[in-house]
Amino acid sequence: MPSLAYHDTAWAGGYHRHMTDTKTEPATGSRSGGSTSTTADTRPYSPGLEGVIGAESAIGLVDGANGRLLYRGYPIGELVENGTYAAVADLLWTGEWHPDAGLAPEPVPGPVLTALRELPRDASPMDALRTAVSVWGAMQRLAFPPTPEDARALTAFSPSALAAFGRLRQGLEPVQPDRSLSLAGAFLQQLNGERPDAAAAKALEAYFIVAGEHGLNASTFTARVITATRSDLASAVCGAIGALKGPLHGGAPSEVVSQLHEIGSPERAEAWIKDTLDRGERLMGFGHRVYRAYDPRAAALRKVAEGMAGMADWLSLAVKVEDIALRVLAERHPDRVLKTNVEYYTAAVLQGVGLPPELYPATFGLARHAGWTAHAIEQAGANRLIRPDMRYTGPEERHLPD
Ligand code: COA
Repeated sequence: MPSLAYHDTAWAGGYHRHMTDTKTEPATGSRSGGSTSTTADTRPYSPGLEGVIGAESAIGLVDGANGRLLYRGYPIGELVENGTYAAVADLLWTGEWHPDAGLAPEPVPGPVLTALRELPRDASPMDALRTAVSVWGAMQRLAFPPTPEDARALTAFSPSALAAFGRLRQGLEPVQPDRSLSLAGAFLQQLNGERPDAAAAKALEAYFIVAGEHGLNASTFTARVITATRSDLASAVCGAIGALKGPLHGGAPSEVVSQLHEIGSPERAEAWIKDTLDRGERLMGFGHRVYRAYDPRAAALRKVAEGMAGMADWLSLAVKVEDIALRVLAERHPDRVLKTNVEYYTAAVLQGVGLPPELYPATFGLARHAGWTAHAIEQAGANRLIRPDMRYTGPEERHLPD
């Protein structure tokens, strides 16, 4: 009988909580995967698979209690300060640190451009990215198992495709990537049609590193599930983009931008924050499901934002609002640690490099290509079809009327 893998003590809490929460009358049919009668089905169920170990991985450690994020053992802050996205992606794919690893931007093949031109201009950029990867995959005929070379090719292509759509949606013609630039730099260059400011390219590169990998989140799990069927890497990434598109995952740093625009000045911050909380609403850019300490990604991006020229006024507002928000949240929720999350300073960095807010979620998807593809390679390396079981709650066997 297939069973879920319960390896750690977190499971026991999840088990008891969810079992006592579950009031559903068990049915007695035998349709739950064909073999299990639900009258006898006392196996634990964890909604959302919370607390269930769904994979073993050597790629990234999300240590929520201590506010640590490690890629292959290296702290995210060190990687942002000393690494490039090319080297960090290579580290995620291969497990080895090659500081000089390169990843030149790839041009968009004709059939992908044709597909992007056919899309409505107001299509979601996330849909455009998913479409581009799908067409690219149809051209590549990638085989199983996925390799670091496949991962490199896909990761180097997608920013060019999103930039092409970014121009088409404004009625502009796509431009070719400047292959002397980094992936993040060439993304800006292809979006704006000119060589980017070096500081902006570096700041976006830092964001790409910070957003590159984050454990078994919904989109990464999706990529692993698809890979586990022995499907190809482009299919896995299309599925992952679909999962990331949902507002519960892709996040909305653009909402942080709107929040700061509404607040307008530090003097108005405290009243605005208290009114928002009094209405039962949440402050964007604070709180996290896993982190109970300051999100290390927010810390790394804050440093980057502080180093960006032209950000002084906006950043000073963001920092003052953050201080007040942290104080008010601590007063309102003394028993719950609510700290700044990655979205808060992502908003600062993406706004600072001049990206339009509609492109924020898909840009997150570009950065996460490294993590998705690393997980696909790892899954394929020790593969087992991912096929959890379910508890059937429908009617007992019955028959159509004569
Ligand atoms: N602002 C105000 N209150 C918040 C809050 C926020 N940003 N985040 C959590 N809380 C409060 C909740 O109201 C709840 O209070 P209650 O127990 O009095 O009802 C308590 O903290 C626990 O919230 P819960 O929803 O159980 O926490 P979670 O771990 O499931 O939520 C998030 C995590 C990220 C969904 C949540 O913190 C949130 O909505 N943040 C704002 C959106 C955001 O920044 N998203 C980006 C995440 S990277």
